[in-house]
Amino acid sequence: MSDDTISDDPNKTTRRDFMTLTASGMTAIGAACAAWPLVDSLNPSADVLALSSIEVDIGHIEPGQTMTVKWRGKPVFITHRTEEQIKEAQSTPLKDLVDPEEDSARVKAGHSKWLVTIGICTHLGCVPLANKGDYDGWFCPCHGSHYDSSGRIRKGPAPLNLAIPPYEFITDTKIKIG
Ligand code: FES
Repeated sequence: MSDDTISDDPNKTTRRDFMTLTASGMTAIGAACAAWPLVDSLNPSADVLALSSIEVDIGHIEPGQTMTVKWRGKPVFITHRTEEQIKEAQSTPLKDLVDPEEDSARVKAGHSKWLVTIGICTHLGCVPLANKGDYDGWFCPCHGSHYDSSGRIRKGPAPLNLAIPPYEFITDTKIKIG
């Protein structure tokens, strides 16, 4: 039986050479694999990208309902306002408001039935309750702040209206937040 791992001919490739080459190749592949996560970690992770903007189907939200989604770790209220809520929001005189802002500045043109707000009370950060309070909007039970159907502060210690996140309509029934 010949031992093909030992050869007198320096040009002849032996099994040992092959194994050495293969091992080197494996090392190179291993190094490439190890480097990828390092390089990849310099880019935002998929989780971060996914959270930086989200697409939400809103077609199933009935008039009067609010859906809450999480965006960048915060609750976002997506409200399908009723005709009555829209009328109330649009007809409120600015002089009655703590943080005066027209309803038209808080919704997208042509989509006035949809109100999208950050669901964090501007007083000390509690999450207000939808369809509660004295103004057909939200009520924050922590210290009693009332927001209207445009998410504007009307009564209580909160100083500002509910914030509006950056968002856009992709279709009539789908929005992208962020
Ligand atoms: S945190 Fe909402 S009223 Fe204080």
